[in-house]
Amino acid sequence: MSPVLEVRSIAGGYGDLRVVRDVTLSVQRGKITALLGRNGAGKTTTLRLISGLNRLESGEVLLDGRDVSRLSAPKRARSGLAYVQEGKRVFRERTVRENIVLGTYAERPSGAQLAARVDEAFERFPALAAKRDSPAGLLSGGQQQMLAIAQALAARPRVLMLDEPTTGLAPTIVDELFDLVQALRSEGLGVLLVEQAVDFSLGVADDAVVINLGGVVFRGAADAPDVGAAVEAAYMGAHLGRG
Ligand SMILES: Nc1ncnc2c1ncn2[C@@H]1O[C@H](COP(=O)(O)OP(=O)(O)OP(=O)(O)O)[C@@H](O)[C@H]1O
Ligand SMILES: [Mg+2]
Repeated sequence: MSPVLEVRSIAGGYGDLRVVRDVTLSVQRGKITALLGRNGAGKTTTLRLISGLNRLESGEVLLDGRDVSRLSAPKRARSGLAYVQEGKRVFRERTVRENIVLGTYAERPSGAQLAARVDEAFERFPALAAKRDSPAGLLSGGQQQMLAIAQALAARPRVLMLDEPTTGLAPTIVDELFDLVQALRSEGLGVLLVEQAVDFSLGVADDAVVINLGGVVFRGAADAPDVGAAVEAAYMGAHLGRG
């Protein structure tokens, strides 16, 4: 089966600074790919290039086999690519419900469709339903992370990219997140997960990609015997680099 997200040899960065040199990866339908690498390896930049927030210098991004490399970020979103940026980004002044509605901005569904999306979100996240009319800024950190994901899911994506979703969360919320990601996989979504917590990441993922200095140093099954060594080598580089 062809992957739902295919990233072919992408490069790009910030202005003249080429942070991502050559990254190739794919996400299968109903599978989770973990993207690992030390601080500054280029994980977030990779997600930004895939989503269209940063300009691709070279390479291609394919969604369901369709080349979306030349599309703007909103158009890629409309094509089924959702991106939850790091840091529990929600509109703090807006209510929980409004935040979920904002997740559908790219396609502007009709009233009935919109109501269905909101119901869907509240069914999946009962804790958010209980706070539907509260400003998002009043939610706990864990609930804000869930809301950020609920907002992304409101667009009914085919691929969900998560950047460091467990950062700063209590262990019980991390467990919830783990279950959520697995549920999404079983529903057929493809997930690209960036996560510092290696155990979490490899524990939930099917496939793993390790990058270092903007290039791929490992690509394979998340339970491959050599994945641990690849991760260790990539993170060790960080240690040596700092020392
Ligand atoms: N807005 C920016 N302008 C210039 N350089 C940036 C910018 N954002 C990141 N960089 C640089 O790009 C490199 C890769 O950063 P990136 O955020 O992609 O790494 P990362 O793997 O996500 O790291 P972390 O684990 O810390 O989140 C770093 O050297 C960083 O300093
Ligand atoms: Mg990052």
